[in-house]
Amino acid sequence: MAKKQELVRISREKIGDFSGDLVVFCALAREKKAPLCDSRLKKIVYPAWKSGDFKGGEKDFLLLYPALLGKSGLAGLAANRLAVIGLGREKDDSDGIREQLRLAGGSIAGRARACKAEQVLVVLPDIGGLSTSAKTKALAEGLVLGNYSFAKYKTSQDEDQARPVRTFFLTGNGSAAAMRRGLRPGLHGALAACRARDMANEPGNVWTPEKFAQFGRKLARKYPLTCRVIGKATMEKLGMGGILAVNQGSDKPAKLVVLEYRSGKKNPTLLLVGKGLTFDSGGISLKPAAGMEDMKYDMCGGAAVMALMEVVGQEQPGHINVIALVPATENMGGASALKPGDIITHFGGKTSEVVNTDAEGRLILADALAWGIDTYSPDAVIDLATLTGAVIIGLGHHRTGLLGTSDGLVQQVLRAGEKAGEPFWRLPLGREYSKQLESKVADLKNVGGRPAGTITAAAYLQEFVGETPWTHWDIAGTAWNYTEKSYVPKGPSGIGVRSLAALVRDWKPLTKSGKQK
Ligand code: BES
Ligand code: MN
Ligand code: ZN
Repeated sequence: MAKKQELVRISREKIGDFSGDLVVFCALAREKKAPLCDSRLKKIVYPAWKSGDFKGGEKDFLLLYPALLGKSGLAGLAANRLAVIGLGREKDDSDGIREQLRLAGGSIAGRARACKAEQVLVVLPDIGGLSTSAKTKALAEGLVLGNYSFAKYKTSQDEDQARPVRTFFLTGNGSAAAMRRGLRPGLHGALAACRARDMANEPGNVWTPEKFAQFGRKLARKYPLTCRVIGKATMEKLGMGGILAVNQGSDKPAKLVVLEYRSGKKNPTLLLVGKGLTFDSGGISLKPAAGMEDMKYDMCGGAAVMALMEVVGQEQPGHINVIALVPATENMGGASALKPGDIITHFGGKTSEVVNTDAEGRLILADALAWGIDTYSPDAVIDLATLTGAVIIGLGHHRTGLLGTSDGLVQQVLRAGEKAGEPFWRLPLGREYSKQLESKVADLKNVGGRPAGTITAAAYLQEFVGETPWTHWDIAGTAWNYTEKSYVPKGPSGIGVRSLAALVRDWKPLTKSGKQK
C-alpha cells in the first residue's frame, strides 16, 4: 500500500530538469482565439491552433518532442516528450472545474499509458475558480482513476499493450504545501475507488463472502477500526432470516462484516450498509444466461462501503462515527435453495413472502439495516446496492438512483455526488408504492410487480429503517458500464466511494426538520 501512495507526488524540480518520459501542460479552449496556456507554450500551440489541429477541446492532444523545439520558450527540456492536453472551455462553477480536472487527469493517464511513459510530470494549470489544493485533489483523482487497470489474470504480457504509469509528478505555481493538502485526500479517495474496482473485478469464485471478512479484518489491523464478522450460527441466533434464506442455495457460508470507526461518544453516527452479493444467479428464479457473468459485480455496494472505511481509517475524522455493514452471500439455486412462495422472518420479526428469489438484495439488506439500526442507534443510515435492473431503464448508466426519507440527508448526498462527479437523481417514495408490496400471507412480499421497480425495492427497505433518516443508493446502473469518461475505464467504476468520502468529510449534523419522514 505504501508503494501505491507514491503513484502521485509533488515535485519542486524545474520543469526543464525533469528527465522522465513525458511532461504535460493543459490548455483552455477559447472562442475564436488560440487556446489559453502557459506563456512558454504559445509559439507551439499557436500554429497547431491555426492549422486546426489543436483547439484545447476536452479530448484534444498535442504530442511534441523537446529535441525539435529549438526556438520555443521551452528549449532544452530534459524530458523525452512534451504534451499539451485540452481542458475544454473555462467553467464557472467549482464542481464543473473539479470534473474538468478529473477528466484532464484521466486523459493524461490514458495518453501517457499509450506512449508507455513511466515517469510523467504534470503541470497544474493556472485556472481560477478553485483553490490550489482543490485543483490538485481533482487532478490527482483523475490521474489515479484513469491509470487503473486489472491485469492480474493475464499471464502473457502483450508487448504492445498499454502499461500503467509508474509515477506522476505534479508541479505548478501554487505552494507545495497547498498542493500536498489536496493530494492526500485525492489519493485516499481515488485509491479506495480503485480498491473497490479490484474487489469487483475478482470473479465470484475468488471474491467470496469470506474475502469481505478477510478484507475487514485486514483494515482493522492496519487502522483504528474494529472488525466483527457475524457467521451463520450467530445469524441464526439473531434471527437474520433474510441473509440465511438467500444463502441457503450456496455452499459458501454467508458473512455479515461489521467495521466500526469511533471518534467520540458525542459525535453523530453514520451507518453504512453495502450489498455484498458475490454472485447473483437469481436462485430458483434463475436469470437468463446472457450477461449473467456480470452478476459477479452484484457486490459493488459492499465493495464501496469497505473501501470507504479505508479512507476513514486513513483520515480518522474527528467529527463523526462511521459504522459499515456488509451482508455477504451468493444467490444460488442449490438443493436447499430458497423457493418462490417461501415465507421468511427477518431480524426484528417482520415476515416476508418470497415471490421471486431474484429479488434477493432487499432480503439481505433488510436484516442488515434492521440489525444495524437496533444495535447502533445511528443518526443517519445509507445503503448502497446494485438493487434493480429497473434503475437502468429509468436513469441509464449516468446517474445513481437516490431515494430516502430525510430531505436533509438527501440534500447532503446530492451535494456530495456533484462534488465527486458521481451524480444522483432522486426518486419518490410513498404509500402507493409501499402498497404494491402487500402480501396475502405475510407482512409483505419481496416484489411489487413491474411498475416502479426501483421505488418498490426501496419501499421494501423502508419497512426496516423506521424513523431513522435514511437514503438508499441504487447503483445498478452506475457500478459498471458507467458513463464513458476518461477516468472511468470499462468494467467496474468504483462508484460511491468518493461520494461517501465527500459526504463524511463535509458531514453536517441533521436538523430536526431533516429527520422528517
Ligand atoms: N442484482 C440484481 C439487479 C441488477 C440487474 C443489477 C441488472 C445490475 C444489472 C437484483 O438482485 C435483481 O435481480 N433484481 C431484480 C428484481 C426483480 C426480480 C423484482 C431485477 O431488477 O430484475
Ligand atoms: Mn437478483
Ligand atoms: Zn442481486
